[in-house]
Amino acid sequence: MKIVVLTGAGISAESGLATFRDPDGAWAKHDPQKLATPEAFAADPALVHAFYNARRAQLRDVAPNEAHQALVRLEAAFGRDFLLVTQNVDDLHERAGSKDLVHMHGRLRSAWCRACDTRHDWDDDLSTETACPACGKTGLMRPDIVWFGEMPYRMDEILRALDCCDLFIAIGTSGAVYPAAGFVDIAANAGAETIELNLQPSDGTALFNDYRHGAATRIVPAFVDELIGRP
Ligand code: APR
Repeated sequence: MKIVVLTGAGISAESGLATFRDPDGAWAKHDPQKLATPEAFAADPALVHAFYNARRAQLRDVAPNEAHQALVRLEAAFGRDFLLVTQNVDDLHERAGSKDLVHMHGRLRSAWCRACDTRHDWDDDLSTETACPACGKTGLMRPDIVWFGEMPYRMDEILRALDCCDLFIAIGTSGAVYPAAGFVDIAANAGAETIELNLQPSDGTALFNDYRHGAATRIVPAFVDELIGRP
């Protein structure tokens, strides 16, 4: 059985990272148009760097939870027939041990030089003074984050996997942002079983064959155990 899993901010909530659209979420406190668009970065790079620097620094204070760890078990059980696509830019899936992982919206712990188009693992702050380790130029390093209006990464690979999967599982995502919100339709059109695991019904719940609602650290391990135990 080929499985594609899509995760969103909800899988990292119980690790202590804020989601975006919950009442205490990032977009409840900040205007995404002022922080998560290329235009915002061009207008005020220092403000955008400060927002992502704070989120990058917070990664040092959090750890993967039982839901991240359950997906590592699922990958071990299904091997090459498993693909994990995350909208999250945190590093909790890889720290839990996930291997075949696609960060479709980029990564906080990566920096992108717009002068020489190289990307670099990055743990510290970025600023308009940061020099690129490859070309040495300053002022052209940006967070390696896919902002609104930009094309998510590795979409061809994701769409190929959706077109031939038997089971599509969405975890901790509001279904509010495309193209990720449309993945359930692509999987369903390919004949896959679709299930939503979320704290509460999302914008797209009605598009799924099935759903389990509750905290990810409870419902994801339980569902993974069911899947692994299936004859
Ligand atoms: N367990 C399971 N689900 C949870 C939990 C939890 N403990 N806490 C919150 N959720 C659910 C919420 O009910 C919500 O449906 O997680 C979802 C989080 O939704 P969003 O905050 O919209 O996050 P996400 O879906 O990942 O956003 C998608 O939008 O702003 C862009 O690029 C950003 O990748 C992000 C994209």
